[in-house]
Amino acid sequence: MNKFITLEGIEGVGKTSNLRYIKELLEESGHNCVLTREPGGTNLGESLRGLLLSHSDENMSADTELLMMFAARAEHLSKIILPALKNGQTVLCDRFTEATYAYQGGGRQLDVDKISELEDWVQGDLRPDLTVILDAPVEIGRARAGKRSEPDRIEKEQDDFFQRVREAYIELANRYPQRICLVDASLTLAEVQQQIHAKLVEYDILNA
Ligand code: TMP
Repeated sequence: MNKFITLEGIEGVGKTSNLRYIKELLEESGHNCVLTREPGGTNLGESLRGLLLSHSDENMSADTELLMMFAARAEHLSKIILPALKNGQTVLCDRFTEATYAYQGGGRQLDVDKISELEDWVQGDLRPDLTVILDAPVEIGRARAGKRSEPDRIEKEQDDFFQRVREAYIELANRYPQRICLVDASLTLAEVQQQIHAKLVEYDILNA
């Protein structure tokens, strides 16, 4: 039962409502579920998140950003994710390393080999059992996200940045279909949830 599941997508694709929905489905089917997020999930990780998303370091270098994402991840793995999995719990994480490939690799155009070296170093062989990517055109995400609060340091990037993030996510799903899937998030919430449910069954997280 100890599965590691992550949810991804650009801003405004409905991560929050769908995380809640996935958690309910997992719990109904008997998973003891830990819900957590990146960057964050630990005291130190949440402090790093504050630094990463605040406007006080507007000109942070892309390498610094990358290393801080992985520093938060190392702490998260050692304090929360690995102990929970070892304890037989299912970990549901709001973003993980696929976000680094999408945002730092796609958005910031950093060398993907650097990211994969850090991934191997920090995670060893650990990869999520399933990553669900909520996919929608950038304009749709923008329109939905725009209705919320002030954009943070990353959210305030331009559409071409998010277009590259979206493309990197699609590329990841094409490259690793055995553990990463796309869900069309431009549809209604009920339709999105139907697709998510079907994926959880298809990837053997839930029984049919
Ligand atoms: P969110 O989880 O509230 O959407 O915000 C986290 C922000 O951090 C979001 O803009 C994506 C970004 N991010 C990265 O750039 N790289 C990463 O590795 C992770 C986990 C998040």
